Amino acid sequence: MRSPGQIGAVAPSSPRLADLLASVVPTHGAPIVVELGPGTGSVSAAIAERLPAGARHLAVELDPRLAAYLRRTRPDMEVVVGDAEHLTGLLAARSVPAVDAVVSGLPWSLFGGATQRAILDQVAAAIGPTGAFATFAYTHTAPMTTARRFRRMLSEVFDEVVVSRTIWRNLPPAYAYVCRRPRSEGRYQSVQRDTGR
Ligand SMILES: C[S@@+](CC[C@H](N)C(=O)[O-])C[C@H]1O[C@@H](n2cnc3c(N)ncnc32)[C@H](O)[C@@H]1O
Repeated sequence: MRSPGQIGAVAPSSPRLADLLASVVPTHGAPIVVELGPGTGSVSAAIAERLPAGARHLAVELDPRLAAYLRRTRPDMEVVVGDAEHLTGLLAARSVPAVDAVVSGLPWSLFGGATQRAILDQVAAAIGPTGAFATFAYTHTAPMTTARRFRRMLSEVFDEVVVSRTIWRNLPPAYAYVCRRPRSEGRYQSVQRDTGR
């Protein structure tokens, strides 16, 4: 309630939506997963449940109070106070050149088109050709111009965009987008070069 312009939700994501978003998280190996906008950690819990031992779970949260809360309640996670718009820089500062999955809880509808695109480009650079990206939208906003623009933008940035079923047991009902294979591989390669990998 203190930050309606930054949170963009009336309730945390339900366990069903959280499980759906977390389905892009690998369950074996030593994956590196980034969560954007973890808020109070409802999706973080679903991600942590899937992660194998040896994985890294980084969470980028803009609000320092929420970040402090997450550090107390989720010591398994590396909480980064920062802006998703600077994702590749935040990762490079932690010697992470690429990640296996990005899961977003960001309030896309509160961002302008340029910010949406800047964040999606950062996500694309972070996951590269082999990673996956999951995010969600509310069904009641689907007909709106901004939601339709965001959907188009996803297809501009990613070769594959899969839309999930509706999760009715979410407040409000929502669906997920799962995206793979960024169209612009050049950006990914430049991130690798910048970080020396
Ligand atoms: C709708 S809440 C989602 C919380 C949780 N992931 C969930 O699904 O219940 C959005 C979260 O994104 C954070 N946020 C908003 N803009 C951000 C940005 N540019 N970078 C990182 N986090 C941001 C907000 O502070 C808030 O915690």
